[in-house]
Formats: sequence, C-alpha cells, structure tokens
Amino acid sequence: MTQPENSPWPTPTASRLIAVANQKGGVGKSTTAVSLAGWLAIEGARVLVVDLDPQANATTGMGVDPRRVSTNIYQILVEGALMEDGIEPTGLKNLYCVPSTIDLAGAEIELVPAFSRELKLQKALEGVEGEFDYVFIDCPPSLGLLTINALAAAGEILVPIQCEYYALEGLGQLLRNINLVTSSLNPELRLTGIVLTMFDPRTKLSSQVAQEVRGHFPGKVFSVSVPRSVRLSEAPSFGQPIALYDPNSKGAVAYRQIAYEMAHQPPAAMGSAVNIESVPIASPPAAESLAREVAFEPNDLPPIQQPVVTYQPVEPMNEESAATSEDWTPPATAPDEREGDRS
Ligand SMILES: Nc1ncnc2c1ncn2[C@@H]1O[C@H](COP(=O)(O)OP(=O)(O)OP(=O)(O)O)[C@@H](O)[C@H]1O
Ligand SMILES: [Mg+2]
Repeated sequence: MTQPENSPWPTPTASRLIAVANQKGGVGKSTTAVSLAGWLAIEGARVLVVDLDPQANATTGMGVDPRRVSTNIYQILVEGALMEDGIEPTGLKNLYCVPSTIDLAGAEIELVPAFSRELKLQKALEGVEGEFDYVFIDCPPSLGLLTINALAAAGEILVPIQCEYYALEGLGQLLRNINLVTSSLNPELRLTGIVLTMFDPRTKLSSQVAQEVRGHFPGKVFSVSVPRSVRLSEAPSFGQPIALYDPNSKGAVAYRQIAYEMAHQPPAAMGSAVNIESVPIASPPAAESLAREVAFEPNDLPPIQQPVVTYQPVEPMNEESAATSEDWTPPATAPDEREGDRS
C-alpha cells in the first residue's frame, strides 16, 4: 500500500457511487461523506456529494447555502427536476454538491404512491454519475425510502460506527435492509467498509468497541479510527471540509488515511456482498485495548501535496470573491484545545 512520495492517487476507471449510511443519528455520516469527498477532491478526483438528508448538514458543511440554490434534491426526486441542474460547485476545486433542503422531510411520504419510488435517485443519477470519479450519498438517520433510494442507486455502502456503547445496536437491522436491497433492487451493492468514528483513546470503552467491531467484521473496517476532534466538529460551521479547514489536525489525517485506502482499494477487493445474518449488541468485552487505535502513525501515507485550492465563502458564490486557502483565518480557539487536537 506504500506509494512513492507524491505519486498521484489513482482515480477509478468507472465512477464509484458510495452510500454513507447508518440509521443511528449523529454517528458521523455527514462528517465522513464530506471529509472523504474533500480529500479525494484535493488529490485530484472529481467528487460529487448528494445530500439525501433533510437536515442538509453535508450541504452546509461544504459551504453551500440551501436557500440560495435553484434546484435541490427534493425537486429532483419528487418534482422530476434534472440532477444536472442541482449540481453546485463548492469552494473546493473538483468538489460538487447536490444540496438538500428541509422539504425533503416530506419526500418519504410524498414518494409512497410514486411509480418505482425506490429507484428515483438511481434514475436521476443516470447520465450524471459518469462525470464524477466518486459520488457520495449522505443518508438520513433512518431506514426509510430515502435510504432505500441511496442503497438502490449505490454500488457501495460505507457505514460509520461511533465508538460508543450502543454502537452495534441497530446494525443488524441495517444489514438486513442491505440484504433486502441486494436480493431485490440492487444485487451489485457491496459493503466497502466500516469507518470507526469519534474514537477517544483515553477511554477503554472506545478501544473495546473498536475491537468488538473489528472482531465482527474482519477485513471490513478501515485501519484507522477517526478520533474525536474539535476541529472536525468546527469545520461545518465554516462551510469547509476538514481537508481545507485544518488539514493537519488529527481528524483530518485520519480521514485522509481512509480516503487513501479507499482510492487504492478497488471496491471488489474490500467489499463482498453483504451477508451477515445477525450482529450481536455490543457486550462489555475484555478490557484489552488495540494498540493500533491508540498509537496510529500514518506511515503509509505520502505527504500532503500542496494543492491549488480555492475557498469561496457561502455568499456570494462567484469567481471574484474566491480566496486562496492561505487567506483563510482560522477562528479563535482556545490554544490548549487546538494543541490537544493535534497531539
Ligand atoms: N470525529 C469527530 N470528532 C468530533 N466531533 C465529530 C466527529 N465526527 C462528527 N462529529 C460531530 O458530531 C456531530 C454528528 O456528526 P455528523 O453530523 O457527521 O453525524 P451524522 O451521522 O451525519 O448525523 P445525522 O444522523 O443527524 O445525520 C456533528 O456535530 C459533527 O460535527
Ligand atoms: Mg448527517
């Protein structure tokens, strides 16, 4: 997996459509989608993030104001607007977004009587996906029709799991739904991997959960757990992926490693059709921590190439107002907090 220094990351021969899904709320789906998309874009891939959550966290997290766009995902799925009209540039070159809106909350119900209601997203993406190397679909925290649309459209699924006690609860249900989708709507769907999020090396519980998840899904969990990071939680309020906001923070480095692994591992190598009958609820496992989680050194990674990155603030979205990332002034943060984050 080691690459010669500064060698460009490979781009896939065919576009990869990746649903980021877990019906548990707040586990890091949007953060994972935006962070991976940001790094892959910086490393030269053309990346689209389709925001399929009425909360529009991925949209705002990429600096796009849902109130200022002409076409959103609700209009595309429910009103038949064209996907190509919904694609918005972001402040990061190569990174695009199809914005969501709160209206999407009604789509779960409005789509019920629709013809081929599970395939609306798949149809809408036809003809557009080929323009991109990666299309991430940020799912809402439910297993409803929107998530089913994402699973029906995607070739791969990425499941973020938060390193906390109830981490595996509900996962069995998610996997059963994935199995249902593979057996009926989309036999091609593969589990690309599990991303462990909000890992806290100071707590035994985090290590225990990470160990438990790795035990249940051998070969399916990315090698690095994403640590809890103040910088990751700040980035969305500045409308920037972490790769722009603070590329050297611990969370950014972890997501870069995961993006690197994704880019260098063809989906077939990592994923297999999901077929996991039952996933037990996390029980308190032996109090043994994983050295890998605690002392991660990203040895495999080539250094960050200084990208030509432009950052455009949310308003106004035009060429003239573009500023380089060097112009960006980080917000005032307590010095000890920032220090801790990079340690
Ligand atoms: N590694 C992390 N360290 C610290 N904060 C994080 C981390 N990952 C995510 N967060 C923060 O946790 C909250 C939940 O994350 P996020 O929105 O990505 O989860 P989600 O699964 O998309 O949530 P939802 O289910 O509501 O869509 C956000 O405030 C986010 O900024
Ligand atoms: Mg989200």
